Amino acid sequence: MSTPILGTGLSGLVGSRFVKDFSDRYQFQNLDLSDPHNPVDITDLTQVMSAIQSSIAEYIVHFAAFTDVTKAWEQRDDKNGVAYKVNVLGTENIVKAAEETGKHLIHISTAYVFDGNKTEMYLESDEICPIEWYGQTKAWAEEKVQASKGKWTILRIDQPFRSDQFARPDAVHRIMNGLKTGSLYPQFTNHFFGPTYINDFVKVIDWVIRTRTSGIFHATAGEMWTDYDFACLINDVMELKGEVKMGSLDEYLKMLNRPYQRNTALDCSKLKNLLDFQMMSIKDAVAQVS
Ligand SMILES: NC(=O)c1ccc[n+]([C@@H]2O[C@H](COP(=O)([O-])OP(=O)(O)OC[C@H]3O[C@@H](n4cnc5c(N)ncnc54)[C@H](OP(=O)(O)O)[C@@H]3O)[C@@H](O)[C@H]2O)c1
Repeated sequence: MSTPILGTGLSGLVGSRFVKDFSDRYQFQNLDLSDPHNPVDITDLTQVMSAIQSSIAEYIVHFAAFTDVTKAWEQRDDKNGVAYKVNVLGTENIVKAAEETGKHLIHISTAYVFDGNKTEMYLESDEICPIEWYGQTKAWAEEKVQASKGKWTILRIDQPFRSDQFARPDAVHRIMNGLKTGSLYPQFTNHFFGPTYINDFVKVIDWVIRTRTSGIFHATAGEMWTDYDFACLINDVMELKGEVKMGSLDEYLKMLNRPYQRNTALDCSKLKNLLDFQMMSIKDAVAQVS
């Protein structure tokens, strides 16, 4: 018999892949705004409490977030803005309900809680120091989770992509489309990030549930890439024969009106030392994308 699991954001880029790959093992109960049967707005404590209290699930996987970084920046310092409400108040509501019902909360977070000034990959023990509003709201969300008296796990990811196409193109499909249509912007040789293969990441969530692991973990593939090298890899592995031009983050920053992290690559050794399966290299993961 499948295990009941509560989830927020199960219709999103990452959450929907968890449902796709694990619907034989888990019986998902969706707390999404657009759920046709029982829509739940996580910014509404009454709705959240009622949905969570009525469930026998032991785990809540909290994917839901306001994820548009540019639109979030337009709402900076606005605690009535939707980014703050969903990311901070929404998470606070989920934390309260999880605490009250004794459920283990698995919270999905981001490398944007860091300032991006480190030259190596970020460790879980590094101090968080967000530089823009999305990262700030996600950092406050992490604080709400960590202040919980209940059981919790925080999983941080960066630039996620999945093997199949989703309604909103992910980090790899955006580049694929640009290479196929000859419209790819010059790719930065001095911006660093740590891609997350969503197909593997959802296995990490399953591992957390199976092993009842708590704490903070970085859960990308644990690699550090520049935009330029990553685009070249996609071009080569998929034999797209597109053109990848070199670009500089410094030129882009002169035009951008919001802060931008230079490096969001995450060190995942803590997680990899515990996992009972091996995550794929980014090169092998890109080869699986269609
Ligand atoms: N995508 C990235 O680049 C990235 C990078 C690092 C970390 N993350 C983190 O990974 C998690 C999943 O991201 P994603 O890209 O899969 O997100 P996404 O595709 O933008 O989906 C967001 C989800 O949140 C739900 N949601 C938004 N407001 C809500 C509300 N008020 N009440 C209930 N549900 C609400 C949406 O439901 P509806 O569809 O019903 O509106 C949707 O299912 C997030 O926590 C994000 O911060 C993402």
